[in-house]
Amino acid sequence: MTMEKLIIEGRHPLNGEIKISGAKNAALPILAASLLTTSPIQISNIPHLQDVTTIVSLLGQMGVKITLDERSNIEVDASSLDSFQAPYELVRTMRASILVLGPLLSRFGEAEVSLPGGCAIGTRPVDQHLKGLKAMGAEIILQNGYIKAKAKKLKGATIVMDMVTVTGTENLIMAAVLAEGQTIIHNAAREPEVEDLANFLNTLGAEISGAGSQTISINGVKALRGGKYHVLPDRIETGTYLAAAVITSGKIKLKNTRPDFLKSVLLKFEETGAIIDTGEDWISLDMKGNRPHAINFSTAPYPAFPTDMQAQMMAVNSIAQGTGVITETVFENRFMHVQELIRMGARIELKGNTAICTGTDKLHGAPVMATDLRASASLVLAGLAAKGETAIDRIYHIDRGYECIEEKLTQLGARIHRIPSETKD
Ligand code: EPU
Repeated sequence: MTMEKLIIEGRHPLNGEIKISGAKNAALPILAASLLTTSPIQISNIPHLQDVTTIVSLLGQMGVKITLDERSNIEVDASSLDSFQAPYELVRTMRASILVLGPLLSRFGEAEVSLPGGCAIGTRPVDQHLKGLKAMGAEIILQNGYIKAKAKKLKGATIVMDMVTVTGTENLIMAAVLAEGQTIIHNAAREPEVEDLANFLNTLGAEISGAGSQTISINGVKALRGGKYHVLPDRIETGTYLAAAVITSGKIKLKNTRPDFLKSVLLKFEETGAIIDTGEDWISLDMKGNRPHAINFSTAPYPAFPTDMQAQMMAVNSIAQGTGVITETVFENRFMHVQELIRMGARIELKGNTAICTGTDKLHGAPVMATDLRASASLVLAGLAAKGETAIDRIYHIDRGYECIEEKLTQLGARIHRIPSETKD
C-alpha cells in the first residue's frame, strides 16, 4: 500500500459551499443487498471511497458483474454467482463485509464469511447477527476463523435483539426478505441508513415495514426484481464539515444533504454558538467569527448523538471556551484520537468512557497518526484550527469514509495537501 500524509496549515477560517456525497453506511448494505436479486439494478449517489471499492471487490469475487461510472452510478448484475465465500483478506480490511452473510445465506442456502475479529475501536462481536439467523433456522458453526452458515430455506421468526446493532439489523432484514413467512425484529436499529436499505429493498418488491422504528416487520417474498435507487446523503460527512466551520469560526453551506437526519448534532452545534439555517436538502452554519463554546453529550444509537461524530466534537471541545464532557457509550475503546489531540496541545482527561476536555486557544500543529476513520477526521479538524503545520500520517483511514476530503476543504479555503509518506506499515 502506498502511504500518504495530509499536510495542513491551520488557522484559515472556512467559507463557502460544497456538496455532500452519498452515505457510506447506506451504500455498503445496499450493495450487499444486490446479491438478493438476479435482475439488474442501478444505484446512484454511490460515494467514491475505499470501503466501497472493498465491497465491490468482494462482490466481484463472488461472480457479481459491476459497472461503475465517473458520476457515482453503479450497475450491479448478480444473476450468475459462483462463490458464497467472503475471505479473510477482504473482511479483515473492512468489518462491514459481514453484511454479505444474510444475503448469501438467503440466496445460496449457504455462506462462509470470515469472522471480523477485533478492530481499533473495540472488540465488536457479531453474536446478534448469528443469533437472529439461527432463529430463522440457520445452522451456524465457527471453524478456522470462519462463520459457516447453512439453511435449506430460511423461515420467518420473531427476534428480540439484545442490543441495538446497525449492521446486525441490516443483515437480518436482508436474510428475512426472501424467507418463508413473517419476521419481526424488536429493538432494531433506527439509523437512517437502515431505513434507506429497507426503502431500496422495497423498490425491488420486498415487503418491509417499520424501518426507522424499533420494530421492523418483513413479509418474505418469493423473489425480488431489478430497479433503480438513489443513496441518501452522508450525515456523518455533513456533521464533519459543519464541525470544520465551527472549529475555524467560519461560515459554510452544505448542499445535497438532509438536515432532518442530524437533529441531535445540529442542536449541539447551536450550543457552541453557531447560527444554523436549513432547507429540505441544505444546511448553512455561521460562527460569526466567534470561538465555539464547549459542549457536553453522551453517544447512543440514533436518534441520539452518533458515536461517529464523537471524535470530531472532541476536536471542537479542545479549542472551545470552557470545559466539555463527552461520554462514549456505543464502543468501549473509541478514544484513540485523544492522545494525538493532546500532542497538539489539547487538555483532555480520560476517566473510563468519559473525556473531560478544557478548551485552549493554543492548539499547535504536530506530526500525528490516524488510527481509525473518525479519529482521523478529528485530527484534520484540529489541524485546521491549530497554529502552524500538522502532518497526519496513515490517511488511508480517511479515504475509507471521506470522498475527496482535501478537494472539498480546499474549496472552502483550507490549506491542505497530500504528499507521499515514508512510513512503513
Ligand atoms: N455489538 C455486539 N454484538 C453484535 C453486534 C454489535 O455486541 O452482534 C456491539 C458492538 O460491539 C458495539 C455496539 O454493539 O459496541 C454497536 O455496534 P453496531 O453493530 O451498531 O456497529 P456496526 O453495525 O458494526 C455501524 C457503522 C459504524 C458505526 C456503528 C454505530 C456501518 C458499516 N458501520 O457499525 O460506522 O459506528 O454502526 O453507529 O454501518 C464509521 O462509519 O466510522 C463506523 C464505524
